[in-house]
Amino acid sequence: MDFVYNVLVALHLLGMAAVVGGWIAVRSGRTLIAPIVWGARAQLVTGLALVGIASAIKDDSHEVDNTKIAVKLVIALVVVAAAEIGRARTKRGQDAGTLLDVAGGGAVANVLVAALW
Ligand code: HEM
Repeated sequence: MDFVYNVLVALHLLGMAAVVGGWIAVRSGRTLIAPIVWGARAQLVTGLALVGIASAIKDDSHEVDNTKIAVKLVIALVVVAAAEIGRARTKRGQDAGTLLDVAGGGAVANVLVAALW
């Protein structure tokens, strides 16, 4: 189970890299690229799976702080929503505008919650 958990942590970090890296790469433009959307979806799926496994294992190295997870979940939902809507706008040839910064900035906020809480 530990192996599966660690693979999920790796995927969680790669998903974060896709959102934050994608955002940094296109920040000067107003186009929301697909990797940001897929990264945002991956964060939700891998994050929830990590919580599920950690709750099942429940030893000293797999503790779940419910308040912290609730905050991360809300921020992640905002990131996914902004990414999905911004991507749809980009596909229609419209400006993704602030949605790009909401998705990227939200992901950075979640990194800070993960690392500093
Ligand atoms: C944009 C969304 C998110 C970002 C950028 C993000 C980022 C991160 C980062 C950087 C870590 C640190 C990994 C480490 O310490 O090795 C982490 C850990 C974690 N995240 Fe997220 N996260 C996001 C969403 C979520 C969501 C929605 C959940 C659950 C509902 C979640 C659950 C967790 C858990 C359980 C860990 C601990 C993994 C461990 O055992 O080290 N994350 N996250």
